[in-house]
Parts: sequence; structure tokens; C-alpha cells
Amino acid sequence: MANHRTYLIVALAAVAAIAVFLTLSACGAGDNGDSTVEQVRAEGDCVECHRTSTPGLVETYERGPHANEISCLDCHNAREGLEAIDHNGFEVVRVTTAGHCAECHEEQYDQHIKSRHGASAWAAVAGNTLALDGKPLFTEEQIAFAEEYHPGTVARGPNPLAIWEGAGAVENGCAVCHEIGAPNYDGSVGNCSKCHLRHAVRVDEARLPETCGSCHMGPDHAQLEIYNESTHGVLFASMRDDMNLGVTPSELTTKDMPVPTCSTCHMSGLNGGTMTHDVTERLSYYLFAPISKERPNGAEGRENMKEVCLNCHGPSHIEELYADADLTLHRTNELVAHVKEIVDGLYADGFATAGGFDDLLDYEWFDYWHYFGRTAKHGAFMGGADYTQWHGNYDLALRTFEFEELDAELRGH
Ligand code: HEC
Ligand code: HEC
Ligand code: HEC
Ligand code: HEC
Ligand code: HEC
Ligand code: HEC
Ligand code: HEC
Ligand code: HEC
Repeated sequence: MANHRTYLIVALAAVAAIAVFLTLSACGAGDNGDSTVEQVRAEGDCVECHRTSTPGLVETYERGPHANEISCLDCHNAREGLEAIDHNGFEVVRVTTAGHCAECHEEQYDQHIKSRHGASAWAAVAGNTLALDGKPLFTEEQIAFAEEYHPGTVARGPNPLAIWEGAGAVENGCAVCHEIGAPNYDGSVGNCSKCHLRHAVRVDEARLPETCGSCHMGPDHAQLEIYNESTHGVLFASMRDDMNLGVTPSELTTKDMPVPTCSTCHMSGLNGGTMTHDVTERLSYYLFAPISKERPNGAEGRENMKEVCLNCHGPSHIEELYADADLTLHRTNELVAHVKEIVDGLYADGFATAGGFDDLLDYEWFDYWHYFGRTAKHGAFMGGADYTQWHGNYDLALRTFEFEELDAELRGH
């Protein structure tokens, strides 16, 4: 017995010593600095050491599709133009860009930068003359590329509200959402990790309404709230545990997701349809604009969207929804045009200064179209009755009277 116990202790000690040796060689000793990506992948150096230093991060990585497929260094290698740090014998970067992802996912990258999630999104805040949040300015080629798809959206000045609020407000606010299309120092545009959160990178997460809703929410673009109150949102809440949200995109069917989320309507290829990272492809109007006009490819966009609906609905149901939403859109356009005339008149006659955010009138007018006008339209197209009515049309009614009275009062009758 005693002998057995001695053997066991010796054996355990040997196992422990080997374990310590292995940990040290993987972790403490690092690498000699000239490993190729293939060697890193084979040896798992980053993963093994980070299992100790940042275990939570490694756990999320290992629950995603990249585990065992690509290494940490594939996404943290020092692409040209990025600031590299000397790290345990490796050259790594802190910030992974869309350029890293594009090395393997070129198609998704190309679609992303064609959409308004590309350069237009960043220029909406920074324009092309203000370097914000440690980002470079767009290059001439990047501007020309985006302007071809979305004229006037990148070759523009910085947003006046962003300037008024200043760097701190912008970096914790505007930039966090709008950097989905920011330029990077390696020459790429965008930040894929805004939807594919950093290390998990799972499609089930990208398909959740909450993912899009982290930006698409609040009084000026209440898409998440509208979705949550819609029939689709309520059904999704009740059925999400029965759905197969993680299925590979090319195999996604209505069996996996019988209820749509934001990504189903705007991105997925349902039942063999074409998936896209160009979220502009299925739209017909500029709903976010004060007065909504049809987009250049509006008819095509509408057909693309209807094709998605037809996976689950009959055509008359869809036509009815669009016809009703069109009524709200035209009515909102009329009201906004009427109030714009009042506001422009007050500016022209010197009651306030046009442009910028330095008069109470600027804010009243901004709220009118940017909160209530937009909300009425977005609610109508995405099935949010309360948002269309009580957060949209009601305020449009009330404030139309307020503008008319203000106009009369200021002009002294
Ligand atoms: C010997 C252990 C070890 C190895 C090997 C290692 N790391 Fe790290 N890494 C750490 C520790 C500890 C930290 C946190 C402290 C620091 O920044 O040094 C860290 C931090 C980082 C950071 C954040 C840096 C920052 O300043 O925020 C990145 C990115 C990173 N590691 C990536 C990698 C990649 C990629 C590899 C493989 C090529 C790797 N690490 C290999 C231990 C290691
Ligand atoms: C699919 C690409 C991808 C892979 C693979 C990847 N990372 Fe990252 N990593 C990112 C992104 C994106 C960020 C966020 C960068 C930023 O701040 O914008 C990041 C940030 C980090 C950070 C700093 C942020 C923090 O929370 O401390 C560390 C450390 C890090 N990664 C380590 C690793 C390690 C270790 C691995 C391998 C287990 C790994 N990464 C694999 C994309 C990746
Ligand atoms: C070195 C190549 C490489 C890089 C860099 C890379 N990926 Fe991947 N990615 C892959 C491979 C390989 C797969 C696994 C495909 C599979 O499961 O069949 C994958 C899978 C994915 C998937 C999941 C597809 C599914 O069906 O579940 C997403 C989403 C994704 N990558 C996004 C990204 C993003 C975002 C980045 C940058 C932050 C990135 N990838 C960086 C190679 C890469
Ligand atoms: C919570 C995320 C978020 C924050 C914070 C945010 N935005 Fe936006 N912004 C969005 C989304 C989402 C849209 C798209 C709305 C739509 O299409 O319905 C948008 C649209 C816009 C547009 C209209 C589109 C265009 O290209 O002209 C402008 C301008 C804009 N934002 C500027 C700003 C400025 C300036 C700030 C800060 C003062 C800011 N945003 C803060 C998410 C955000
Ligand atoms: C990190 C913030 C962020 C996330 C996450 C995000 N978006 Fe956006 N989205 C924006 C911004 C900012 C804009 C406005 C860009 C502009 O017009 O300047 C926008 C615009 C859009 C547009 C209008 C495009 C156009 O041509 O006018 C659609 C549709 C859209 N997003 C859908 C989605 C969907 C679906 C998801 C989730 C799968 C999503 N977004 C996730 C920030 C985000
Ligand atoms: C607006 C949110 C959003 C952004 C930004 C985004 N993705 Fe995706 N991505 C998704 C969604 C949602 C899916 C799953 C679509 C589906 O099938 O339902 C997806 C799927 C993918 C896939 C799986 C494709 C396949 O066929 O298996 C890859 C790879 C991918 N994205 C890469 C990227 C890259 C690279 C970027 C940056 C250039 C990016 N994504 C930016 C939302 C986004
Ligand atoms: C049932 C399908 C469906 C779902 C689900 C859905 N949308 Fe939409 N979305 C639409 C339709 C239809 C329009 C109007 C398209 C047009 O212009 O013709 C629209 C418009 C938009 C726009 C307006 C772009 C602009 O011009 O201002 C944004 C942004 C958007 N959706 C984001 C989202 C987000 C985020 C979610 C989830 C919280 C979501 N959508 C859920 C169908 C859907
Ligand atoms: C993946 C399937 C799916 C897609 C795609 C889809 N829907 Fe639906 N939708 C449903 C389901 C399920 C219901 C609940 C009613 C039912 O069971 O028939 C519903 C309900 C509705 C309702 C509410 C009906 C009521 O009277 O309560 C409207 C309106 C609607 N959808 C419009 C649309 C439009 C417009 C599109 C495309 C832009 C669309 N849907 C895309 C599955 C879908």
C-alpha cells in the first residue's frame, strides 16, 4: 500500500511539474518573434497565455465560429498603418479593424462599405474635415467611392450639433454609434464588431433585435421600440427559445426563424434568398430626412423588401401595409413642409439665425421633424401603432399649432 501511495505521489508531482513547464513555455517564455501565423495557430500561444490573463475573453472566443479556425493573431496582426505593440515576442495591435475581417470576408466588407453603414455613417457626425475620436480623415478615393452610392453624404462638413457639444460628448455619444462607418489607419472603412461583438462573433447574436437596437433606439430613431411593440416583436419574444438563431446564413429558412427580426427584413437571405450587408438595398424612401423622398433605386428596394415579406405573408397583406404607410408618409411630408415654411420665414425676417444649434427655434424645429416626424413614418412602416400615433402624429398636431401661434405672436398679430 505504502509503495503504491509513494508511486502515486511521485506520479502526481511529475504531472504537476510537466503542467508548470507547459504553462511557462506557452505563456511566460512567449515566442522568439518570428513565428508565422500558422505556427501561432498550431501552438496556440496567445490562447493559452490569455486563458490565464483574460479568461473571460478566451471563453467567448471559444464559443464562437472562429475557435480552432482562426488564431488571435489573425485579427490582431500589425496591418500596415496601424500602431503595433511589442507583446511577448509578437507584434500585435490593440484595435482590430474591418480591414482584418476583410482579409477573409471580402464580400461582406464590400457590401458594408457600399451601404449607409459605411462612410456616410461616420461623415454624418465628423464630415470630412474633423478628425474625431482618434480616427483619420477619409481619403479622396474613399470619399469618391461612397459619394457614388450616396451623393452628398460624405463630402460634407461636420455636424453642427456635434461641434456645439464638443469632444467629450461626441466620443461617448455620437461616435459610439456612428463609428460603424469610421475610417481606420490601415485604409479600411468601418467597424464590423459593432454587430459581431468582438470575440464571440456569432450569427445568433447578430440576428437579435437588441444588437441593432443598441444604436437604433431612442426618440430620433425608435426602431427597437417600434419592433418591440409590433406583432413581430411580441411573437419573437414568445418564440425565441424555439428558434434556431445560430444557423449558417446560407441555410437559413422560415423553419429556423418563423418570425422576423431586424436582420431578417434588412439583411438575411431567407429560404435561399440573397443575404446582404448592404442595409440600403431593401429601402424605398429616405425616411430619416425631414421631407422623405423616394430613393434613386426606390422601386427596386421596395421589391427586394416585399420579396422577404412574401416568405410569410400573402401579397394583399403586404400591399395594404405599404399603402397605409404611404398615407402617413405623405401626410407627414405635408406637415413638415408647412412648418418649414414658417420656420424659414422667421429666419428670413431675422427672428432667429438660420443654421446651427444656437436658438431655441433651431431645437423646436429639430424636434419637430427629427423626433416626431421620423417616428410617425418609422412606426407606420414597421408596425408600431403607438409610436406612429402617440409618439408621432399627436406631437406633430400639437406642435403645428404651437408653431403657428409663435409665428403670429412674433409678428405681432
Ligand atoms: C506570456 C503571456 C501572453 C502571451 C503569449 C500573449 N499575451 Fe496578450 N496579453 C497578456 C497580458 C498579461 C495582457 C494584459 C497586460 C498587457 O497589456 O501586457 C495582454 C494584453 C493583450 C492585448 C491588449 C493590449 C492592450 O494594451 O490593451 C492584446 C490585443 C493581446 N494581449 C493580444 C495577444 C495576442 C494576439 C497574442 C498572440 C500573438 C498574445 N496576446 C500573446 C499576456 C500574453
Ligand atoms: C474576429 C477577430 C478577433 C479575434 C479572432 C480575436 N480578437 Fe481580440 N479583439 C478583436 C476586436 C474587434 C477587439 C476590440 C478592438 C477595439 O478596441 O476596437 C479586440 C480586443 C482585444 C483585447 C483588448 C480589449 C479588452 O477587452 O481587453 C484583447 C486583450 C484581445 N482582443 C485579445 C485577444 C485574444 C487573446 C484572442 C484569441 C483568443 C483574440 N483577441 C482574438 C477582435 C478579435
Ligand atoms: C483569417 C481569416 C478570418 C478573419 C481575419 C476573420 N474571419 Fe470570420 N470566419 C473565418 C472562418 C474560417 C470562419 C468559419 C466559417 C465556418 O464556420 O464555416 C468564420 C466565420 C465568421 C462568422 C460566422 C459565420 C457563421 O456561419 O456562423 C462571422 C459572422 C465572421 N466570421 C465575422 C468576422 C468578423 C466580423 C471578423 C473581423 C472582426 C472576422 N470574421 C475575421 C475566417 C476569418
Ligand atoms: C444611439 C446611437 C446614436 C447616437 C448616440 C447618435 N446617432 Fe446619429 N444616427 C443613429 C442611427 C441609428 C441613425 C439612422 C436613423 C435612420 O436611418 O432612421 C442616425 C442618423 C443620423 C443622421 C442622419 C443621417 C445622415 O447621414 O444625415 C445624422 C446627421 C446623425 N445621426 C448625426 C448624429 C450626431 C451629430 C450625433 C451626436 C450629437 C448622433 N447622431 C448620435 C444612431 C446614433
Ligand atoms: C453601431 C451602431 C449601429 C448598429 C449596431 C446598427 N446600425 Fe444601422 N445604422 C447606424 C447608423 C449610424 C445609421 C445611419 C447612417 C447614415 O445615414 O448616416 C444606420 C442606418 C441603417 C439603415 C438605413 C440605411 C439607409 O440607407 O438609410 C438601416 C436599414 C439599418 N441601419 C439597419 C440596421 C440593422 C438591421 C442592424 C442590425 C442587424 C443595424 N442597423 C445595426 C448605426 C447602427
Ligand atoms: C449591421 C450589423 C452588421 C454589421 C455592421 C456587419 N454584419 Fe456581418 N452579419 C450580420 C448579420 C445579421 C448576419 C447574419 C445574417 C443572416 O443570415 O441572418 C451576418 C453574417 C456575417 C457573416 C456570415 C456569412 C455567411 O454566409 O456565413 C460574415 C462572414 C460576416 N457577417 C462578416 C462581416 C464583416 C466582415 C463585417 C464588416 C465589414 C460585418 N459582417 C458587419 C450583421 C452585421
Ligand atoms: C417586418 C420587416 C421589418 C422588420 C422586422 C424591421 N424592419 Fe426596418 N424597415 C422595414 C420596412 C418595410 C421599412 C421601410 C422601407 C422603405 O423605405 O420602403 C423599414 C425601414 C427601416 C429604417 C429606415 C431607414 C430610413 O430611411 O430612415 C431603419 C433604420 C430600419 N428599418 C431599421 C430597423 C431595425 C433596427 C429593426 C429592428 C429593431 C427593424 N428595422 C425591423 C421592415 C422591417
Ligand atoms: C419570417 C416570417 C415573416 C416575415 C419575413 C414577415 N412577417 Fe409579418 N408576420 C409574421 C407572423 C408570424 C405574424 C403574426 C401573424 C400570423 O401568424 O400570421 C406577422 C404579422 C404581421 C403583421 C400584423 C398583422 C396583424 O394583423 O396583427 C403585419 C402588418 C406584418 N406582419 C407585415 C409584414 C411586412 C410588411 C413584412 C415585410 C416587410 C413582413 N411582415 C415580414 C411573419 C413574418
